[in-house]
Amino acid sequence: MKNADSKESGDASGENPGEKPRGELFIQAAAMPADTNPNGDIFGGWLLSQMDIAGGIAARSHSGGRTVTIAVESMIFKKPVQVGDVVSCYADLEKVGRTSMTFLIEVWTLRRDSFVREKVTEGVFTYVAIGPDGKPREIEQETMSA
Ligand SMILES: CC(C)(COP(=O)(O)OP(=O)(O)OC[C@H]1O[C@@H](n2cnc3c(N)ncnc32)[C@H](O)[C@@H]1OP(=O)(O)O)[C@@H](O)C(=O)NCCC(=O)NCCS
Repeated sequence: MKNADSKESGDASGENPGEKPRGELFIQAAAMPADTNPNGDIFGGWLLSQMDIAGGIAARSHSGGRTVTIAVESMIFKKPVQVGDVVSCYADLEKVGRTSMTFLIEVWTLRRDSFVREKVTEGVFTYVAIGPDGKPREIEQETMSA
C-alpha cells in the first residue's frame, strides 16, 4: 500500500526539482487546524517540536539510550505549512562527540491539494546522551542505530 512517504521518497516537484531529503525519515504527521498561528498557517513552534521529536528519536537510536536536547541552531523557516499538509521530518547525523550528537533536521511537506513536495524548514539540533543520573554519558562509538 502506498503511504505518504512513498510519494515523498522521490525528488521534489516544487521549486527545486531533483532535490532530495537528507538523512533518514523519523516521523510523519498531518498538520491540523489546532496547530495554526493567527495567520492560519501552521505555527512554527509546532514544526520545531516535530523536528525535536524526530531528532530525539534519531539520537536515542544512535546512542542506545536516553538523550536530551542541549542546543537548537540555524532554524530556517523557508516556506509556510498549511493545514492538511503531511509533514515529514528527516534527520542526518552530522557530528558525534564524546557525549553529544548533532543532526541536520529537514522538514518536507506533501501539499494537501497539489501533492507537491517541498522542503519547508531545516535546523541543526544537538543532543546529549545521559545516564540514569541525568549526567552526560559517553557514546560508544561502535553503537549504531537500532
Ligand atoms: C544536557 C546536560 C545534561 C549537559 O550537562 P553539562 O554538565 O552541561 O555537560 P557538558 O558541559 O559536559 O556538555 C555535554 C556535551 O554537550 C555539548 N554542549 C554543551 N553546550 C553546548 C551547546 N551550547 N551547543 C552544542 N553542544 C553543547 C558539549 O560540547 C558536550 O559534548 P561532547 O561531550 O560531545 O564534547 C545539561 O546541560 C542538561 O540537563 N540540560 C537540560 C536539557 C533539557 O532539559 N533539554 C530540554 C528537554 S529534552
